[in-house]
Amino acid sequence: MDKLTIALAKGRLADEGLKLFEKYDLVSNIDQESRKLKFTNNEKNITFIFVKPSDVITYVEKGVADIGIVGKDILLESESDVYEIMDLGFGKCKFSIAGFKEQSIFKKNEVLKIATKYPNYVYSIFKERDQKIEVIKLNGSVELAPIMGLADVIVDIVQTGSTLKANDLVVLEDLEDISARLIANKVSYRFKFGLIEQIEEILGGK
Ligand code: PRP
Repeated sequence: MDKLTIALAKGRLADEGLKLFEKYDLVSNIDQESRKLKFTNNEKNITFIFVKPSDVITYVEKGVADIGIVGKDILLESESDVYEIMDLGFGKCKFSIAGFKEQSIFKKNEVLKIATKYPNYVYSIFKERDQKIEVIKLNGSVELAPIMGLADVIVDIVQTGSTLKANDLVVLEDLEDISARLIANKVSYRFKFGLIEQIEEILGGK
């Protein structure tokens, strides 16, 4: 088997992804609690690397990893050039606009302030709308922004809804379904097609 390098996003998606690879004996004994970031299965000639979610795309785009598992949210935000080859059906959540109950997301002749970790995505969805916006880029704990008066609303992923609820916020509009996607480097997809196809079949047959 040719060498294949797979990038996984540390956290929720890596757990689910690893479970799948383990089920088909492509990987074993990966201790996610350890600080080790690279694991190689010499028998199968597969290397797994663990990186931040947005860096999965970077590693795959640059060809250092052949394939990767990443959330659709990260793909929608990034302007990278990778193939999205499969919806893996786990890590399901939604992109939503959220704010205080009964709050309007339209402010005629006024600027709507939106806090988010996904500025490119927010610009893309508001491009079609007749609403002036100011996007405030945050790196986490986005739900705090309306509470502290930093923004009117947020655009973020909602999974269980418990973070919104705990902060007295509600979904004002659902935008897009999100789930984990298998992505591939464009050159790898061409030159390691057989191998990547095998992985697709394995993951699709779960
Ligand atoms: C994500 C997201 C929401 C939360 C949604 O944040 O940005 O805050 O999860 O999940 P829920 O609907 O199940 O509550 P994450 O946990 O990645 O932390 P962060 O705020 O530090 O980015």
